Amino acid sequence: CGIVGYAGPRSAREVVVEGLRRLEYRGYDSAGVAVVSDGRIFSDKRSGKLVNLEMALEEHPLPESGTGIGHTRWATHGGPTDANAHPHLSQDGRVAVVHNGIIENFAELRAELVAQGITFLSETDTEVAAQLLGVELAKGSDLTTAMRTVANRLEGAFTLVAADAQQAGKVVAARRNSPLVVGLGEGENFLASDVAAFIEHTREALELGQDSIVEITPDSITVTDFAGNPAEARQYHVDWDLSAAEKGGFDWFMRKEIYEQPRAVADTLLGRHTEDGSLTLDEIRIPEAELRTIQKIIIIAAGTSFYAGMVAKYAIEHWCRIPCEVELASEFRYRDPIVGPTTMVVAISQSGETADTLMAIRHAREQHARVLAICNTNGSTIPRESDAVIYTHAGPEIGVASTKGFTTQLAACYLLGLYLAQVKNTMFGDEIASVMKELEGIPPLMQQVLDDSQVVVDLAARLIDQPSVLFLGRHVGYPVALEGALKLKEIAYLHAEGFAAGELKHGPIAIIEEGMPVFVVVPPRGRDQLHEKVISNIQEVRARGARPIVLAEQDDTFVEQFASTVIRLPKVSTILQPLVAIIPLQIFACELATQLGHDVDQPRNLAKSVTVE
Ligand code: G6P
Repeated sequence: CGIVGYAGPRSAREVVVEGLRRLEYRGYDSAGVAVVSDGRIFSDKRSGKLVNLEMALEEHPLPESGTGIGHTRWATHGGPTDANAHPHLSQDGRVAVVHNGIIENFAELRAELVAQGITFLSETDTEVAAQLLGVELAKGSDLTTAMRTVANRLEGAFTLVAADAQQAGKVVAARRNSPLVVGLGEGENFLASDVAAFIEHTREALELGQDSIVEITPDSITVTDFAGNPAEARQYHVDWDLSAAEKGGFDWFMRKEIYEQPRAVADTLLGRHTEDGSLTLDEIRIPEAELRTIQKIIIIAAGTSFYAGMVAKYAIEHWCRIPCEVELASEFRYRDPIVGPTTMVVAISQSGETADTLMAIRHAREQHARVLAICNTNGSTIPRESDAVIYTHAGPEIGVASTKGFTTQLAACYLLGLYLAQVKNTMFGDEIASVMKELEGIPPLMQQVLDDSQVVVDLAARLIDQPSVLFLGRHVGYPVALEGALKLKEIAYLHAEGFAAGELKHGPIAIIEEGMPVFVVVPPRGRDQLHEKVISNIQEVRARGARPIVLAEQDDTFVEQFASTVIRLPKVSTILQPLVAIIPLQIFACELATQLGHDVDQPRNLAKSVTVE
């Protein structure tokens, strides 16, 4: 999760460990460092906090060296143990590597290396890169050429940083779809996953393009592409202070996390195809035959994760024809639910530590249900106590109000739905492939929503004095409305309510007053009869003096006549629309809370992870 590399005259160990400390805010569960000295790599790595590593280094100091790399890890493949921590070394101990991201084809590369007689010491995808580099170096390549060869063999998103025992004074990195910046010093240079790691040493930085290889020495920097041609890198001056640097220049972690969503969702969807084009979810270790016996799915979760679960119900029932209930974790076991061996309980939890959800899965397991977790935190309690787990790859979420946690949970739920449809044969292979294709095309559309968000920012400025805001939606737009209202409650401390738009007339419409802002999530037009229904609902609130703020598809001009403000959404299928529709609502809440002067990242009375029932 945090990466640092150094080449220069100072103690690399000190510079690297300091840099890692600056990246601690990103969250991590193990840390490690490696330096080059006397033609050898010296390395140490420990699970837990940086202090564990520092204590180990005090007991067994590494030799002084001006070449080093380090890493703080947020576990993805393999739990947060000492062995899985980075750096990873090649079998001959010659090269050390740290890595962020996901190597999608690691299983096949690993099999290939094992067949060549290489023994793996960890369960990580990273070690594959270390071993491949080792093989290339043994053939006589220099580190940069070896890195290029290896980078070309890897699929997925990655930043790799490596040091070679036989090339002291040099650190080489590769990046594809994963962050890496260079810090330009005098007689020293730095590599890091973000500038916070080196801004106490230099404020001059290089921004690298996609698919770059960079080699640093104390007095040179060479950037090439994956083919070996010289590549452009833009130099810039960092004028952020440390706290702004940690937030990537954003004012809040929450805002940074909102903007990370396209990447986070893309990472969660990575590596799901097999060679024959079918969908794979290796993590579901429940045999297919057993999955076919499932008669009922119960999704349990709390807070934002519960709303992701509500969306999942629509998708799973529609695609798999398996009855699916969604229940608040805190309610589940106290009502004596009907659960048995043919029930699959899906527990959704960003943190993996929510006590309500944990108690609910324990109860489900006592009743012999199969438990599948959807979780963002490797090694946490809920996945440990489940039969299987699908990890979301959002990276650490620091803002208390969940954003990228939510959208990556949606992505994981869609994957689960499609996978079960494949196993149960309720959809044709080409139908699954076509939904998968659309899903994989969504991250750029999410980016488009982020790029076009000025209208939402302006809206927040206009609505700052509102005592109360309503959110309406139907079908999957209903949980989006609930989540939009929750965001506003959590960080703007505003009275906000989400309703099913069709339910409005059965009561809630009585609270509509002149000028009240009502957000309405409008389903795609033309392909969906719900569209007209929602338009009628907008008219109902408008007739009572409300100000409808309408989230509608790009070319849905029909809604304009009924709206006081239109927020545009890209064209996607109804069922996938929550992935794009929630973004303006997250931005609205974040913006309004900021303008009201609240602490967006740590709202009053709330905890990121609630470990009491
Ligand atoms: C807390 C947080 C919420 C979160 C909920 C569930 O209440 O404040 O933001 O949605 O827990 O958390 P989980 O980690 O289980 O998804």
